[in-house]
Amino acid sequence: MRYRPRRLRRNQAIRSMVRENHLRPEDLIQPLFVKEGGSVPQAVPSMPGVFQLPLDQLVEEGRKARDAGLGGVILFGIPEGKDPEGSEAWHAEGIIQQAVRRLKEAVPDLYVIVDACFCEYTDHGHCGVLRQDGVVDNDLTLDNLRKAVVSYAEAGADMVAPSGMMDGMVDAIRSALDESGYYELPVMAYTAKYSSTYYGPFRDAAESAPSHGDRRGYQMDPANGREAVRELELDEAEGADIVMVKPGLAFMDVVLRLRQSTDLPVAVYNVSGEYSMIKAAAERGWIDERGVVLETLTGFKRAGADLILTYHALDAAAWLRGEA
Ligand code: PBG
Ligand code: ZN
Repeated sequence: MRYRPRRLRRNQAIRSMVRENHLRPEDLIQPLFVKEGGSVPQAVPSMPGVFQLPLDQLVEEGRKARDAGLGGVILFGIPEGKDPEGSEAWHAEGIIQQAVRRLKEAVPDLYVIVDACFCEYTDHGHCGVLRQDGVVDNDLTLDNLRKAVVSYAEAGADMVAPSGMMDGMVDAIRSALDESGYYELPVMAYTAKYSSTYYGPFRDAAESAPSHGDRRGYQMDPANGREAVRELELDEAEGADIVMVKPGLAFMDVVLRLRQSTDLPVAVYNVSGEYSMIKAAAERGWIDERGVVLETLTGFKRAGADLILTYHALDAAAWLRGEA
């Protein structure tokens, strides 16, 4: 045999030298849930280790994320009051606006991303305003999105990430931010966000399950791959700075496709159901949590992701530093 691939696998030194992908804490973004009104963290039963946080504890988590060297955090707000439009989302004293101000004050060097959507804020749980017939009104929702992102920018957010899959959302946000002078604030678009059953635990955490119907009228059909490239072209043309694929595991091919179709940074969202499956199996002793998590996150890098949004971020950063 002339070629023996095993020559390059013989010991750790050579394996390290030829390793193609490296996972780093700064690649990871920790999602955090902040809940208005409460005073103690509320465990989310379907997501072991995840809590709905009051403002004080949110700041503590923000500090941990900074100390762990994470890329940043992405915030989801759970308001005390909901209405048909989700108007708490753009209230100057809304939970996210308070959270961003507190975080930037206490931990100025923490990079704070805000997820911009309305499902946590509407009383019907859909990602925008409803028309008479119960369908989400795309263009009216864009008007609300403009108000919301400008108020996040005013509060001090470092980046906004629209997740509602409204057509034209990146363009609407980009122009609203620019018109208000926030031309330096980047937009991370949920570019290929699929209508996925894997979001189940998140909807417990964010209290954002739709009260009727589902999101298939605006989120993508999991059967479609080419359509993701079309969404990418639109988001690029509209001025997205980073494009995202979500969920991750069942959509690794989409991550690769976007990687091969754009020079923009690509992010992947390792979603709640993916997290909870690993936690559940690990709790039963069926899999080794550390190994499975690091292998999964490295897989996202291999598929082409630059950034990984994951509930494992803080744990993974500790493992990467050789702690725990
Ligand atoms: C809201 C939103 C969702 C997620 C992120 N932003 C849920 C949904 O679309 O129903 C999912 C995150 C996860 O499952 O971890 N638009
Ligand atoms: Zn939503």
